[in-house]
Amino acid sequence: MTIKEITKRINDLKAEKNAVILAHYYQEEAIQNIADFVGDSYGLSVEASRTKADLIVFAGVHFMAETAKIINPSKKVVIPDSNASCSLAESCPPIKFRNFIKDFPDHTVVTYINCSAEIKAMSDIVCTSSNAVKVIESIPLDKPIIFAPDKNLGKYLQKITGRKFVLWDGACIVHEAFSFDKIVELKLKHPQAVIVAHPESEEHILSLANFIGSTSGMIEYVKNSTKQTFIVATEAGILHRMKIEVPNKTFIPAPTVEANSCSCSECGFMRLNTLVKILNCLETESPEVNISPEILSKAMIPIEKMLNLSA
Ligand code: 13P
Ligand code: SF4
Repeated sequence: MTIKEITKRINDLKAEKNAVILAHYYQEEAIQNIADFVGDSYGLSVEASRTKADLIVFAGVHFMAETAKIINPSKKVVIPDSNASCSLAESCPPIKFRNFIKDFPDHTVVTYINCSAEIKAMSDIVCTSSNAVKVIESIPLDKPIIFAPDKNLGKYLQKITGRKFVLWDGACIVHEAFSFDKIVELKLKHPQAVIVAHPESEEHILSLANFIGSTSGMIEYVKNSTKQTFIVATEAGILHRMKIEVPNKTFIPAPTVEANSCSCSECGFMRLNTLVKILNCLETESPEVNISPEILSKAMIPIEKMLNLSA
């Protein structure tokens, strides 16, 4: 089948089954182009909470599809590739986390949305990179905080909010791949370039950034900036959206320590999803995302708290 035929079949099935395709900015271009909504983790949760579709095809990673299911327990949520996991979510296994929080019973447990439904079920409130500061600031000053699973985002939030957290030792392999030396070299070659970075990046990378924000925050920033050239330290899929939003500007992916074909950082988990797999999952309505009713009802509480706070 040609791309044109695949696209037509996807659109026909979407109409026939009242389905919606939600995609993260890290998905490949062809997927972003066919999606009904492309956004960051927060925007995708909001969109999932508003959708009238019966079938949600989640082009992203597993924790994102799980979040859509938690918000819509009665709807069918499918993911193009069930192996599309997340290194950050995997760095926080539920049994270990349960033991970890036992030692801090008086702490408010704040978890970054990049974690499993089981971890969310153990949390007091969830946050994403675009509302994390607001979420932390909603917690009374005398309440100590556990922040999990991303230690880099946690360290960044400590700096911004002036709070001190008990941090879980998790990280994203994609955002820890950037090379400080190569970014400095690139900046010397493009002295006018502005560096934008995602807060999942390490402290030394963030120290180089002119702007730190979520994927949607970065897109807004490059749109509104008077500058022309940007070095972008996050997953390279976001460049597609940046080029659509501001085609006259130049975007350079931040280089990684390992030299690879594009020398940029790509999320292998996100890239498991393809257009053909989207077609397959629309046709078969599988693989379906299922969560036990007990975990689902517990995980819904901290997600709803976040959505209400950010509304
Ligand atoms: P946001 O979508 O919140 O910007 O986070 C990026 C990310 O790494 C998603 O896994
Ligand atoms: Fe997870 Fe990192 Fe991929 Fe985001 S970029 S899905 S945090 S592994």
